[in-house]
Amino acid sequence: MKSMLFLILPAALLASPAAQAEDSATLQLYNEYCSVCHGDNGDGQSHARLGLVPPPRDFTSPQSAVELNRPRIIRAIRDGIPGTAMTGWKSRLDDTQIEALAELIATRFMLPSTASSATEGSQIYAAYCSVCHGDSGKGALWATAGLSPRPADFTSQEFRSTQTRDHMIQSVSYGRPETAMTGWKKRLTDEQIATVVDYVIEAFMPGFGDQAEAAGNTHKHSDGHNHTHADPDTDLAVYMKLPLENGLRGDAVRGEPLYQDNCATCHGEEGDGRGPRAYFINPKPRNFLHTASRASLNRPTLYRLIGKGKLRTEMPAWEKVFDAQQIADVGEYVFTTFIQP
Ligand code: HEC
Ligand code: HEC
Ligand code: HEC
Repeated sequence: MKSMLFLILPAALLASPAAQAEDSATLQLYNEYCSVCHGDNGDGQSHARLGLVPPPRDFTSPQSAVELNRPRIIRAIRDGIPGTAMTGWKSRLDDTQIEALAELIATRFMLPSTASSATEGSQIYAAYCSVCHGDSGKGALWATAGLSPRPADFTSQEFRSTQTRDHMIQSVSYGRPETAMTGWKKRLTDEQIATVVDYVIEAFMPGFGDQAEAAGNTHKHSDGHNHTHADPDTDLAVYMKLPLENGLRGDAVRGEPLYQDNCATCHGEEGDGRGPRAYFINPKPRNFLHTASRASLNRPTLYRLIGKGKLRTEMPAWEKVFDAQQIADVGEYVFTTFIQP
């Protein structure tokens, strides 16, 4: 027993990331064997790349941050990638050197903020979400054919135009009313939910974060910190109180007749999704009284969803009929009458 511990301990110490990250011997290995193709900066910008199909991997790209994790990097270095210029190195490098190179790539070249969260996020996604949402984020084949409503297509312009990171977090936490999308709060921690949502954004909605930031769609706490979901209850309360963007304010009194004339036929006078036309419609109009609606439809979200409508459903895009103020008014009526009465 004792002798085994002796054998295991030094290896464990060697594998510690900090000890190896700045290891100059490892950097020398990289420069000797890898940089000829992957470039001095790990970005694949080498002379050799011009002749290679597929080209050498750019470790610094967002795609690499999403796709590469340590086990995969180690496997690639050890065994190579058949049919490409990436040959296996296991006959020339020992396991310790291979692990040290993997560590170097992950810490020196790969996007630091995304490297770890992407790995965890992609694992959660693969374990819990891809069965319906598919590896491509467009929806698994069975689910787009068999579920009504079908899973959101994360890659679509429609989806981007109606979402914020916060709203996605609420939807994943509390689910979507009366759909196959159940809430994950019981099975995942708030941190895991935020991580998998960030993965969805990184992997399927490139540029979305910046765009949302520019449009003021991400909100900051008054103390200037980013939304971190440290306390889910206050966070939900904060989220549900967010005002409309651009200083727009809805008026529920003006919104009521708009709702009763245009929306009640599907969503019901009481907002329960059981208007006279609902019976004939599939997917069904949303029930605004459902817990999941009450945990995710804040004013900005209502405004976007009412304005943009839903493709492939009976929900029209009301921005073609109403002006911005009218959308705000009917949204305010829905919010104060059904969501937070
Ligand atoms: C002769 C050129 C060449 C050399 C030398 C080379 N690589 Fe590669 N490497 C490639 C190419 C080409 C790919 C892309 C293969 C693909 O896209 O499927 C690649 C891909 C990779 C990947 C990504 C694997 C994946 O799963 O996508 C890693 C990690 C990697 N190389 C590490 C290394 C390391 C570490 C070394 C040095 C020990 C090295 N490479 C040396 C050409 C090279
Ligand atoms: C059993 C199938 C199923 C699974 C599993 C599933 N989803 Fe969904 N998801 C759906 C469906 C169906 C919708 C569309 C609901 C709708 O139209 O409101 C959806 C919608 C969404 C939306 C958009 C919500 C909105 O407000 O429009 C997000 C974000 C999402 N899912 C993320 C996830 C994540 C992350 C996971 C894994 C933790 C996951 N889903 C697991 C079926 C599923
Ligand atoms: C012809 C029927 C119909 C009419 C009229 C209609 N809707 Fe809808 N609405 C739907 C359907 C169906 C859905 C659900 C789409 C889906 O499952 O993806 C929906 C979804 C919504 C959603 C999204 C809720 C969510 O959780 O994603 C909002 C908000 C909404 N409607 C508000 C309104 C408002 C406000 C009006 C009137 C201005 C209106 N709708 C008129 C059928 C209708």
